[in-house]
Amino acid sequence: MQPIQSVSWSPDGEALRILDQRELPAREVVRDLVGVDEIADAIRTLAIRGAPAIGVGAAIGLAAAIARASHGDGGTARRLLPGFAAQLAGTRPTAVNLSWAMNRMLACAHSTGDDRLLDALRAEATAIADEDAVMCRRIGEHGVSLLSDGMRVLTHCNAGALATSGIGTALAPVYVALERGMHVHVYASETRPLRQGARLTAWELARAGVQVTIIPDSAAAALMSAGEVELVIVGADRIARNGDTANKIGTYAHAISAQRHGIPFHVAAPWSTIDAGTPDGRGIVVEHRAADELGEVPAGAAVWNPAFDVTPVSLVTSFITDRGIHEARGAAGPELFTS
Ligand code: MRU
Repeated sequence: MQPIQSVSWSPDGEALRILDQRELPAREVVRDLVGVDEIADAIRTLAIRGAPAIGVGAAIGLAAAIARASHGDGGTARRLLPGFAAQLAGTRPTAVNLSWAMNRMLACAHSTGDDRLLDALRAEATAIADEDAVMCRRIGEHGVSLLSDGMRVLTHCNAGALATSGIGTALAPVYVALERGMHVHVYASETRPLRQGARLTAWELARAGVQVTIIPDSAAAALMSAGEVELVIVGADRIARNGDTANKIGTYAHAISAQRHGIPFHVAAPWSTIDAGTPDGRGIVVEHRAADELGEVPAGAAVWNPAFDVTPVSLVTSFITDRGIHEARGAAGPELFTS
């Protein structure tokens, strides 16, 4: 089976190639994007989504868009770079991987002369993608130690291969378990309003041969109460220095339910998702999205539609990162992640 490539270079190396996640699971549509406006639009409308994939996609997209718009001229590329990077970084505020990747691209440009600039940007974007795939694999190899054959695991939203350039974050331990002949049963909560759990997590797990059951978000507490969930693993869009974690709206409710039922609650993320510059969750900007994502609402009714919530570190059992498993619950102080 072909690995999922949610973001990559196009075969001719001139464009950002994406698997359009708005179309899944009905259709597998691949698009090549090269204009900064269309790349920004793809991120804003969730054609590319998931914190690591947004960072990788924006990095490859930036290198491709700058090469096209500058017609290969290094001086022009340098003039265009800050505006293009700011436009992409501004598309989604919560996932820190996006600004992290844009800052890496700017730092790369800063240390390179005009004559080598386009090649250097291309190489840096490729490195960001390759490193992300390696971090995912390491998360999987660390996280698999928390799983056992036949285990029933709940996840929320999609933190799988579609959300990264590798085997995912929250789903990486499940994939490594599968490689090792273990069978894990995943409950994918639907993830209202855009249904990333039902559309994307269930699609990629079923494709890989993992047993997956979709539940409405509102059924998670009942499922836990019935003794059907042994472990929760979710991804993250930004982890503050003290461990407070922003992830898809509904994550916080799952964490509260898990604590109520004595179920371990793990957050899996690459180191690039840790924002040591933000002391705690109060400093995390939560993206709010359009009212029409909730479908038709009666005239006169207001809509509150945050894309993410912040789970306090006190509800997290551990963080599974590419650097290992970091105990959180009880041990957390203000300086859990200092660098
Ligand atoms: O709005 P989305 O679909 O981009 O939200 C994605 C999530 O919340 C993921 O759990 C998170 O980005 C981690 S992806 C490895």
